[in-house]
Amino acid sequence: MYSEQFQKSLQAVADAREANIAYEPQRMTAQQKEDLLKEYHPDYKTSEFTELLIGPNKGDKVPHELAETLQAHSRIKAEDVDLATPDYDVDVLIIGGGGAGASAAIEAHNSGASVMIVTKLRIGDANTMMAEGGIQAADKENDSPAIHFVDAFGGGHFAAKRELLSKLVCDAPEAIQWLSGLGVEFDKDPQGNMITTHGGGTSRKRMHAAKDYSGAEIMRTLRDEVLNRQIPVVDFTSAIELILDTNGNAAGAVLMNMETKELLVARAKTVIIATGGAGRMHYQGFPTSNHYGATADGLVLGYRVGAKLLYAETLQYHPTGAAFPEQIFGALVTEKVRSLGAKLVNEKGEVFMHPLETRDVAAASIIRECSDRDNGIDTGSGKGVWLDTPMIEKIGGEGTIEKRIPAMMRMFEKYGIDIRKEPILVYPTLHYQNGGLDITEDCMTTNVENLYVAGEAIGGIHGRNRLMGNSLLDIIVFGRSAGKNAAQKSKDVTIGELTLDHIEKFEQEIKDAGIVTDSVSPKLLPKYTRDV
Ligand code: FUM
Repeated sequence: MYSEQFQKSLQAVADAREANIAYEPQRMTAQQKEDLLKEYHPDYKTSEFTELLIGPNKGDKVPHELAETLQAHSRIKAEDVDLATPDYDVDVLIIGGGGAGASAAIEAHNSGASVMIVTKLRIGDANTMMAEGGIQAADKENDSPAIHFVDAFGGGHFAAKRELLSKLVCDAPEAIQWLSGLGVEFDKDPQGNMITTHGGGTSRKRMHAAKDYSGAEIMRTLRDEVLNRQIPVVDFTSAIELILDTNGNAAGAVLMNMETKELLVARAKTVIIATGGAGRMHYQGFPTSNHYGATADGLVLGYRVGAKLLYAETLQYHPTGAAFPEQIFGALVTEKVRSLGAKLVNEKGEVFMHPLETRDVAAASIIRECSDRDNGIDTGSGKGVWLDTPMIEKIGGEGTIEKRIPAMMRMFEKYGIDIRKEPILVYPTLHYQNGGLDITEDCMTTNVENLYVAGEAIGGIHGRNRLMGNSLLDIIVFGRSAGKNAAQKSKDVTIGELTLDHIEKFEQEIKDAGIVTDSVSPKLLPKYTRDV
C-alpha cells in the first residue's frame, strides 16, 4: 500500500497498463547504446576513478574505493607470524565458502586431495545464496553453446577472454546435470522438462531456475554435499595475507579468527581464491544487492603477491534494485520479473525501454530517466522508476507471481505492497564485479604459480558486462575446474620455505610511490558505524 505521494503516478501507470502490455518497445541500436552508456553508466564517470600507483596494474584506473583498498597496508607484519609451525597443512586451501568455493572443494575432494575451506562467515554466507533469477545453459534443441557464446560475447562488449567464455558455455549443460544429480530442484513442467526463460540479452530461453531463489537452492545443495563429505570448514576465520614459498609460488595463507583475532597459518600446495565480489565497497555511493562479506578481499590478497587484475574498472549495476521502501533499499529485484513480462515505466506511465536490454544499458536508461529526463519518481530518499509487476498476472494468468517469483512477493508483502496488484519502485544497485584476477583456462592466475581463482573473483569471463544467469554458471564451471586442477597440480608440488617477504616489499612500494594512507586491507567487513 503506497502513501498519497505516489497516487497520481500510480494512476497513470494503471491507466496505461493494457496499452503498455501490448506495446513492443524497440531495441536500441548499437550506436544508441554506446551513446547512452557513455553519458549515464557509472563506469564512464571518470571522476570516480583513480590511477593505481603500485602493483601489477600500476597505471590502470579503478574506482577510488578499490584503489584505496588495493594500495593499503597489510593487517600484519611478517614477524607477527610463526611460519615454522603451520596450524593446518593441506593439498588445496580454498578461501571462501560460497558456491565457487564449495564446488571447488567437492571436485578437489573427488580428486583425492586433502582440502580445507576457510571462510570469514559461515559456509553459504555468500552472494550465491542471494542469487535469484537463475542459471544459463544451452541445453534445449533450439539452442547451442555457440549461440550462448554469441549472446554473452556481445553482451560483454566483445571483451571477454574467449577461452574462458568458451569454457563457460560449453561446460554449462553438464553443470546443470551435475547440480541436478546433487539434488538441486530446478523448475520443471508436468512432463519433467526443465522450464527455461529469457534474460536480458539472451536470444534463446536458457535460464534454468528454482523459482526466484535459485542461488539459495544451489547453495543449500552444495553446502550439504561439502558437509556430508566431511570436508573441513574453518568458519568465522579470514584469510588476511597469502603466503608464498621461496620459489615465489603460492603456498598457503595467514588466517585470522574474526572473534579472537588469533593468527593461524595454513600451509598448502595450492590455494584457490573464491572470495566473491565487492558490492559492500559501495562504489560511487551505490547501495548493493550483495552479501555482507562482499568486500573485494580476494583481489587484495592476490594483488599484494603480484597477481594481475583484469577489467577491475568495470562493475555491474543491476538495473532493478529496490528503491522503496527504504528498509530494502538496494535489495535485488530479480531480472526474472522482467522475463515474466513486467515492463519498466516512468512517472507518467510511459514504457521508456525494452525490458530485456542488457544490464548496463538498462541501468543507464533508468539513470537517464531519473536524471536528465526528470521522469523518475521521488521515493523520499532518492529516485526510482516503476517496474509494473501486475502485468505478469495479466500476461501469465492469476497465480503466476506466487508460483514463479514467490520470494519477490514476500519481500514486498512485508511492507504492505502486493506486487500482484501494485507496481514496485526500482533503481540500479551495485551487483557484480565484472573484473577480477586474471587467469588462464586452468583457473591459475596468469603470473603467480599455484594460485587459482574461482567465481566472481575472476576477471575476464564475461568481458565488460555480464548477462543474467552467467554468474551462477561461472561459480559452478570455474569452481569445479579450479578444484580439479588445483588438486591435480598439488600432486606435483614440493613446497619451498614459507615466506611473507612480499609484505615488506609492498610496504616499500607504498612509501616509494608517496602514498599516505591509514587504510589496512583486506577490508573483511563493511563499516556502517561511526567512531565515537
Ligand atoms: O536478476 C537476477 O536474478 C540476477 C541474476 C544474476 O545476476 O545472474
